[in-house]
Amino acid sequence: MKKNVRPRRESVASAVLVAGIAWAVTGMSAPYCCAQANSSAAQPKMTEQAFKNIQVLKGLPADQLIPSMQFISASLGVECDYCHVEGAFDKDDKKPKPIARKMIQMMFAINKDSFEGHREVTCNSCHRGSPHPAGIPAIASEEAAPAGVEHGHAGEGASTEASGAANPPSADPILEKYLAAVGGAEALQKISSRVEKGSARMGGHQLPIEIFAQAPDKRLSITHLPDGDIITAFDGHSGWLGNPGRPARPMGNAESEAARLDADLYFAAHIKQVFPELKVAPAEKIGDREVTAVRGLREGKPPVKLYFDAQSGFLVRMVRYGDSPLGLNPTQIDYADYRDAGGVKIPFRWTIARPNGRFTIQVDQVEQNVPIDASKFTPPAPPPEKRSSQ
Ligand code: HEC
Ligand code: HEC
Repeated sequence: MKKNVRPRRESVASAVLVAGIAWAVTGMSAPYCCAQANSSAAQPKMTEQAFKNIQVLKGLPADQLIPSMQFISASLGVECDYCHVEGAFDKDDKKPKPIARKMIQMMFAINKDSFEGHREVTCNSCHRGSPHPAGIPAIASEEAAPAGVEHGHAGEGASTEASGAANPPSADPILEKYLAAVGGAEALQKISSRVEKGSARMGGHQLPIEIFAQAPDKRLSITHLPDGDIITAFDGHSGWLGNPGRPARPMGNAESEAARLDADLYFAAHIKQVFPELKVAPAEKIGDREVTAVRGLREGKPPVKLYFDAQSGFLVRMVRYGDSPLGLNPTQIDYADYRDAGGVKIPFRWTIARPNGRFTIQVDQVEQNVPIDASKFTPPAPPPEKRSSQ
């Protein structure tokens, strides 16, 4: 029932294509603004300092603006140019932009007045992927089964948290099975580095990709485009992103947290350390595979949902969220094609999906325990700050 029929960028000129790919890969805004929005300065900049025309999203760390914009775009099912004049994001020339401002105020007011300040209602609660929310319930498009013979969703909503409240199931056996499936903690510890080569596939295009990983948690992925590289990197503390023709920019906090999960070479052995609280969720299916799901909870951060193949034990999906002032931006990663590489089993294919698109990485070649030049994981010097204002 998803009406994901937005025209994508495949048909347009290659510069735009490249920008679009960069956006899809990093989940961020390649052709826009804000390389400096959140750079090195000890005092993080506020939205109204980093941007020119902020009237309602004031008083927030500047690195939260773009995630908010992504959340808005995904909720309405539109691209940035629905509201923005290209190259002049501060202008209010397009009608939907001032409307969106009012809507942001309305959303804050609804939550304040009706939900005790909790962020229950978001743009997506009403919009659900369209600029025009449906005020009238949809008419059935399928014949209803007589009461009592429905199937398929039995048990859904019968949350284990409720049913087993007294004695909730432990995630331990699921995690142990996963660790054993990948080869066990000992085999894992023998891997100190990994270099993967393959291709990133998106919209009918194949781009060469290289991934360098150094234990315990450094990672660099380079996607080669005709006119430069897309870089996603994490040095064990924080991450940065690079797009062709633009200086690399530091990741915001939410992005860095996500990159940290991807960079953890021993993740299979670390899940309990990463998530102090783990809750077994009701069994589900992904395609025709039975999966067990575990919600990983951490203080002050959105949950991460991990799905393990009930038979093989492998981690087959991770769903995580980047927080923004307006709502959560979801990312889903599906892991597949687990194969042996030096005594451990690793996914040779994974698909990263976000509201604005998806792409798949297929690894063709893996080398482990090879030396990787430390400079690969050194963040680029921040671009010199323009201190023209003040
Ligand atoms: C539905 C309308 C809408 C969409 C879609 C949208 N924005 Fe915005 N954007 C706004 C509004 C409204 C503001 C001003 C917020 C305020 O006044 O606090 C804004 C402000 C901005 C600013 C600050 C400009 C300045 O200097 O003042 C940037 C940058 C920006 N948006 C980027 C984006 C990007 C990138 C996308 C696509 C991922 C996007 N926007 C999608 C409505 C939108
Ligand atoms: C309580 C429900 C609700 C919420 C929450 C909500 N909207 Fe709306 N929005 C509407 C309705 C209803 C309309 C009018 C739709 C129409 O014109 O068909 C609308 C219209 C709009 C429009 C004008 C669309 C157009 O092109 O005519 C924009 C832009 C918009 N909303 C942005 C947002 C943003 C951004 C958020 C979150 C900050 C948001 N809305 C939250 C109900 C909501």
